[in-house]
Amino acid sequence: MFGLDRASRTVRRRAAALAVTAAATAAATALTGAPGAVAAPQPIVGGTTTTTTAYPFVMQITDASQNQFCGGTLVAPTKVVTAAHCMVGETTSSVRVVGGRTYLNGTNGTVSRVSRIWIHPNYTTATRGEDVAVLTLSTAMPYTTAPYVSASDTAVYAAGTTARILGWGTTRSGGSSSNQLRTATVPTVSDSSCAGSYGSSFVAAEMVCAGYSSGGVDTCQGDSGGPLLIGGRLAGITSWGQGCAQAGYPGVYTRLTTFSSLVTAQVTS
Ligand code: ARG
Repeated sequence: MFGLDRASRTVRRRAAALAVTAAATAAATALTGAPGAVAAPQPIVGGTTTTTTAYPFVMQITDASQNQFCGGTLVAPTKVVTAAHCMVGETTSSVRVVGGRTYLNGTNGTVSRVSRIWIHPNYTTATRGEDVAVLTLSTAMPYTTAPYVSASDTAVYAAGTTARILGWGTTRSGGSSSNQLRTATVPTVSDSSCAGSYGSSFVAAEMVCAGYSSGGVDTCQGDSGGPLLIGGRLAGITSWGQGCAQAGYPGVYTRLTTFSSLVTAQVTS
């Protein structure tokens, strides 16, 4: 029922890979952007611009030419948490991590090569879960790291809790990326409600949803791998969704409490 759009493996390749699309959706999105309609969705749909000074742990994951395709979160000077689906097909020589660079077209900040890519061993596709990866950097990042949830912190996901999303993703489903880092807040959604949206594609033990029932604010293509912060801690990883910011279809994030111990094993190795 939800067709996974795997068509685009260009610049936003991994980003676009998990956009779940529907023809009706495209029509609805187009209408939202019409003149005189409700405010058009903005990157990190419905968000505002921010900087890596404000959020120093937000990393660009780029190709070897420093073209961003995913986000990541610095959790230790040489460790970055991102989505497994961002790393599929990548090698230690094909990716870079860029810190301290607010703009996609900037040249500032710190660029590091990656010496190791750990992808959850059971990862297959984002809609099956286990969408988590940890990168080990060759160069330590001189930026403040983000704390992340521990396995017992499951209460952070209580429905209605405010969560912060960040990234350089597209302004709307199928749109273009934001040159500047953006952020927004969205409420977490109960597992039963999210299962109502996504059926068996939503795996409650591995995923958490966030968004307004009316839509309008969401992560989008290119935001994948980036942080969902709750109470200032990394609690989720941008993973997938049907379109972006659609009413009734919240964003789906990796439920980090489930993978916290595995991540720690990578962070300390
Ligand atoms: N899969 C997208 C990416 O790779 C993230 C999509 C998030 N979608 C959403 N509706 N929240 O960047």
